[in-house]
Amino acid sequence: MGERKAMKASAAANANIAIIKYWGRRNDALRIPTNNSISFTMDDQLQTVTTVEFSKTLHADSLVLNGRPGTKTELARVSNFLDNVRAISGKRRVHANVVSKNSFPTAAGLASSASGFAALAAAATKAAGLGRYKDKKQLSALARLGSGSASRSIYGGAVEWLTGKRKDGSDCYAVQLSPPERWKDLRNVIAITSSKEKRISSTDAMARTVRTSEMFKCRLESVESRLRIVRKAILERDFAALAPTIMQESDSMHAVMLDSWPPITYLNGISLEIMHKVVELNESYGHGQRNAVAAYTFDAGPNAHIYTTAKYERQVQKLLAEMEGIEKVLVCRVGEGVRYPRKHLF
Ligand code: PMV
Repeated sequence: MGERKAMKASAAANANIAIIKYWGRRNDALRIPTNNSISFTMDDQLQTVTTVEFSKTLHADSLVLNGRPGTKTELARVSNFLDNVRAISGKRRVHANVVSKNSFPTAAGLASSASGFAALAAAATKAAGLGRYKDKKQLSALARLGSGSASRSIYGGAVEWLTGKRKDGSDCYAVQLSPPERWKDLRNVIAITSSKEKRISSTDAMARTVRTSEMFKCRLESVESRLRIVRKAILERDFAALAPTIMQESDSMHAVMLDSWPPITYLNGISLEIMHKVVELNESYGHGQRNAVAAYTFDAGPNAHIYTTAKYERQVQKLLAEMEGIEKVLVCRVGEGVRYPRKHLF
């Protein structure tokens, strides 16, 4: 960048779906969460590809998202994020053209902000010539400033985002718990129950929960023991041990949303029906906790993510096929972290 010719770079990143959720921050500006969270990164069906070109000849940043110009709000969020990259690279006045493409509907609870800001962080730092951002922890902490969950999409496989202890957030980044090839038969059967944009952004909604929910403190206490259960189950690839915790954790997050004021609701009638069907499916294999074959989890949206293993994938699909109102079903495997394709989008 600078006196040299304009620099262009592209990056691809995939969405991740948390099983221990990030919901609430202890520092809003720095996006430092109140608790650690754990997710699996999905395969390329939930992918964002982004090209960034910095050029001294530009007078402002521009954004094209899925083939249309970005809205004012989207552009402002991208520009604010690029300000961090400009500050680090010491080129405060160099603007950028950004073109980004999702392989799935934006803002439909499919974690487009996670793949979006992970890809943007990787493409922008490369385009700005910031070689040291090959360090994934640094890249993760940077992506976090765009969207908290993006810190996890830097890595493939199972990933834990650490809240850290420092006030400046310098120890708040994600680390990989296990690589994608470690759990090849894990599946996320995604039921799209609505591809409409959400009514309230997760950023605003979680701030409301921290401010107004009395149950939120109680949730933070139970998250610690769930983190321990999940780390162990991932290490041992023990799905039956993982499943009840995945569901309880999703329920806990949606409970504190409802406990916020005014209440926040992302689930719809079909989401609730899916929850009951999954519980019934598990009960058909026996009532013990060790018999679960599938586990639902929902983010800030009504779409269901049903984690299961290859052996029960068909059963879960059958359960969804018998229901009305599901727009689309997608089956994802565990996927890769950030990569840098040679081909640019413009
Ligand atoms: O995508 P963000 O950073 O706005 O946060 C959303 C958080 C949840 O998706 C609801 C949970 C999570 O941990 O991904």
